[in-house]
Amino acid sequence: MDIKWTEDLTVGVDSIDDQHKEMIAIINNLLQAINRGDARDEIEKVIAFLKKYVEAHFLMEETLMLRIKYPKDKFLEHERKHTQFWETYNELAATFKKEHRSPILVNTIKNVLVGWFVNHICQTDKAIGVFIKKEGKDTKAYGY
Ligand SMILES: [Fe+2]
Repeated sequence: MDIKWTEDLTVGVDSIDDQHKEMIAIINNLLQAINRGDARDEIEKVIAFLKKYVEAHFLMEETLMLRIKYPKDKFLEHERKHTQFWETYNELAATFKKEHRSPILVNTIKNVLVGWFVNHICQTDKAIGVFIKKEGKDTKAYGY
C-alpha cells in the first residue's frame, strides 16, 4: 500500500532528496489515514500539511536554481512545472471533497499525485543534480 522511495529517485542534492523522502512520507500518512478510516478533518489536516510542505519545497528548489545560476530557460520551465502541480493538488482536493473515504480518493493519490512526483523528480529535478555535477558546484556553499 505504501509508496516506496527508491534509489532511482535520487537527485544528488541532499536537502532536495531529504525533502522528497519527506513528501513520500506525508503521502503515505495520507493513504494510511484514509485506509484507517480517519475522520474527515484528520485527513484534511494531512492534505493541508502536504500543501504547505510542497510550497516550501518548491521555493527551496527555485532559490537553489537561482543561486547556482541554473540556465534561465530551464529555470522557467521548472518553475512552470511547479505551478502546474497545483492543478494536480486541486484535483486531489476536489476528489477529497466528494470522496473522502473511497477507493477513488486512494486512486487519485496514487495515480495523479504520486505520478506527478515521480515524473517530476525523474524528468525535471534530476536535471538540477546533473547541472551541479557538470558545473562542479558546491551546494554546501549555497547553504544546501
Ligand atoms: Fe522541482
